[in-house]
Amino acid sequence: MNRFTLPRDLYFGKGSMEVLKSLKGKKATVVVGGGSMKRFGFLDTVEEYLKEAGLEVQIIDGVEPDPSVETVMKGAKLMLEFCPDWIVSIGGGSPIDAAKAMWVFYEHPEAKFEDIAKPFNIPELRNKARFVAIPSTSGTATEVTAFAVITDYNEGIKYPMADFEITPDIAILDPTIAYKMPEKLTAHTGIDALTHATEAITACLASDFSDPLALKAIKMITENLEASYKGDETARDKMHIAQCLAGMAFSNALLGISHSMAHKTGAVFGIPHGCANGIYLPYVIQYNRKVSESKYAEIARYIGLEGNNDQELCDAYINYIRTLNEKLNIPATLKEYGVDERFFNENLERISKNAALDACTGSNPRETKAEDFEQIFTAVYYGKTINY
Ligand SMILES: NC(=O)c1ccc[n+]([C@@H]2O[C@H](COP(=O)([O-])OP(=O)(O)OC[C@H]3O[C@@H](n4cnc5c(N)ncnc54)[C@H](O)[C@@H]3O)[C@@H](O)[C@H]2O)c1
Ligand SMILES: [Fe+2]
Repeated sequence: MNRFTLPRDLYFGKGSMEVLKSLKGKKATVVVGGGSMKRFGFLDTVEEYLKEAGLEVQIIDGVEPDPSVETVMKGAKLMLEFCPDWIVSIGGGSPIDAAKAMWVFYEHPEAKFEDIAKPFNIPELRNKARFVAIPSTSGTATEVTAFAVITDYNEGIKYPMADFEITPDIAILDPTIAYKMPEKLTAHTGIDALTHATEAITACLASDFSDPLALKAIKMITENLEASYKGDETARDKMHIAQCLAGMAFSNALLGISHSMAHKTGAVFGIPHGCANGIYLPYVIQYNRKVSESKYAEIARYIGLEGNNDQELCDAYINYIRTLNEKLNIPATLKEYGVDERFFNENLERISKNAALDACTGSNPRETKAEDFEQIFTAVYYGKTINY
């Protein structure tokens, strides 16, 4: 039996945050990050609309990028004191993911993080609150996904929590929030979205429902990411939708080893999530093409790249991503990113073992063991071609 799950409601377009005025309930907890949403006035708008709906509002702010287990536990405690019937998260993937995890521990204070972090092991939610997500970046699509990525800084590991229980009830896509993204954030989140869509096409649960969403996302990203990076607002409108389509696809089809590698090196090497995916994706396609070449060729054909056969089309897609990375100032290798060679070698065995254990490795089209990850990471570090 297969399953395809999305939020019940999606509101989109300029001014779509106004739907908050019609929420029915008594109390709302708003979860937000470090300050950009406050600075640009979006947090005030959310608060105003919720109050107009007659809700009492609690604000949990200061969620850090790549949120920690501690931040989640602290937030859940505050929610337990306030007892909201709505959780409204606004910001990038970090505050929204943290809010999802807080929601789990608010509804189930007795739960243990190690149990919740196991795939599809989250107990039933919505007995206390429902969840609204308002993304401010155009990349993670956490507003429609069944995932939340929480970092254990003691271990230096990101845990992707995965369960349709944490798929939000309402997603609000107001692109004007994403107009405020600086260049670098636009590049990193945009290439993250391209990685989501590409990995969703080849992932083990890819289906006739997810493929069209992923293909359309890739087409829109290839048409708009460069202009969005340069600040074009129409392109940013399109990217906000495209990343969401990619999210709908990967939330159901799952991902692959580019994400396993990004999850297990983000904290160790200090690489933002999207940037790590941008660096890894061309190498991962080289590794996966042995089993998925025709799917990469299908992507290449769909976006109008040229080639006489699957092999040439797959090459064209890899080259396309490399050129796009260059335009977005995303390095081609880990060495170029600035990871110290000795530090890389000292950590190679550990990151490879951790990547093999990542939840995204099982859904990659080609089996990947720790020793394979060592070879892939080494190729990424030095910029070698993977042709086995
Ligand atoms: N849940 C999922 O399905 C999923 C998918 C991919 C990635 N992730 C996770 O999401 C996190 C990354 O999220 P992200 O890339 O959205 O960034 P982020 O939430 O970590 O934010 C990065 C920085 O950008 C700032 N920022 C956010 N929106 C802004 C705006 N509109 N204008 C100006 N500044 C803004 C934030 O204040 C922060 O300093 C990682 O932890 C990653 O692992 C989750
Ligand atoms: Fe991602």
